[in-house]
Amino acid sequence: MKEKTSRIPGFYKLSSDDRLSYLKNFSSLSDDDLSILKSMSGITLDGASNMIENVVGGVSIPIGISTNFIVNNKEFLIPMATEEPSVVAACSKAAGLTRKYGGFQAKSLGNIMRTQIQLINISDISSASDKIIENKSNILKLSNEQTPTLFSLGGGAKDLILKKLNTRRGDMLIVEIFIDCKDAMGANACNTVAEAVSPLLEELTGGKSILKIVSNFATERLVEASATFDNELLGGDEIIEKILDAVEFANNDPYRGVTHNKGIMNGIIASALATGQDTRAIESTIHAYASITGKYIPLTEWKKDSSGNLFGKIKLPLPVGIVGGASSVHPTAKVCQKILGIKTASELSEVIASVGLSQNLAALCALVSEGIQKGHMKLHSRNLAISVGAQGDSVNKIAEIMINENNITFQRAQQLFNEFH
Ligand code: MEV
Repeated sequence: MKEKTSRIPGFYKLSSDDRLSYLKNFSSLSDDDLSILKSMSGITLDGASNMIENVVGGVSIPIGISTNFIVNNKEFLIPMATEEPSVVAACSKAAGLTRKYGGFQAKSLGNIMRTQIQLINISDISSASDKIIENKSNILKLSNEQTPTLFSLGGGAKDLILKKLNTRRGDMLIVEIFIDCKDAMGANACNTVAEAVSPLLEELTGGKSILKIVSNFATERLVEASATFDNELLGGDEIIEKILDAVEFANNDPYRGVTHNKGIMNGIIASALATGQDTRAIESTIHAYASITGKYIPLTEWKKDSSGNLFGKIKLPLPVGIVGGASSVHPTAKVCQKILGIKTASELSEVIASVGLSQNLAALCALVSEGIQKGHMKLHSRNLAISVGAQGDSVNKIAEIMINENNITFQRAQQLFNEFH
């Protein structure tokens, strides 16, 4: 049998049907899976009404496949949901530069989330804290009774800590329970636990509980990925030196650092959205993490290795799940997970972190060489043609003329459209 590879030269030249056939073989997709992808939405109005309230429609974001990925010695085709041109192509290209060195090595550092219970009006915080510590095993037991499946799989509440906050509205005691969420993103489990244990905490402390909610600052849900990008394929020493200069700019200026990280998020959010993740949770935790040292810094580190290649590393929190939430309800998300062939939330986080690293290198490469507009403009010119009313062949015709004239504007698109119609 031919070996499965995510290196597919000319994938971009194939028709969508041929791309789908490749995917079908690569990821053992069924005809139903292909129909879901082709439907451009995957859900019906009724299905959507089970997800949120007051449903009137849906918004469809294109899913493209990023090629060339090897993560932890396994070949991956990455589904990416994004409206931004060039993201998918650039990510694939950058991933291709790592293959000679085995692709990406990635490691999830755990799936622990914190849930917080805020207690106020406690007359003696010190003795209240002692009571909680004395009853720690009861509190953890009660927590685990709320999530029997998670507990039976070896997850659930593992520990708790206390924090005293001196606030303008008086002292508060915050109880934080650490929950191993395993393959779930875990916000629901965390919220359920927080609500369930708060009466016991009130009883033990004589205080009143106000908030009972997961913390989205997922500092115990980190993942690391690294890769070596080939010197020659990158374009040589000069490009690498420029990339290192660009990174140093980001290291020293938050106005650049945020944009550097935005490029990483282009990959992270696209692959997270395709697989049905809570992208708001991912964005909030990652941006907070970028400031964890007290200074806003890039999520990636880059250096030239002893052989002259570029070595990159990314470390960030990634609260993702493959059970519960949209990840196990939305048909398109389920097909995208099947395309990846991931078996655990940890593996999904390792793949997504690798995508983030690749996307960052892709952006840096473009920025230090031809700039990003050239790639963007090709697709932008097509979008302009469509926005003035062009259809079918005339989309490409108008786009091509604008590119050749180096005049990619709405006005020119309109002029050309009027000439041809
Ligand atoms: C554009 O979506 C992302 C970039 O601005 C990232 C970067 O500047 O590193 C190209």
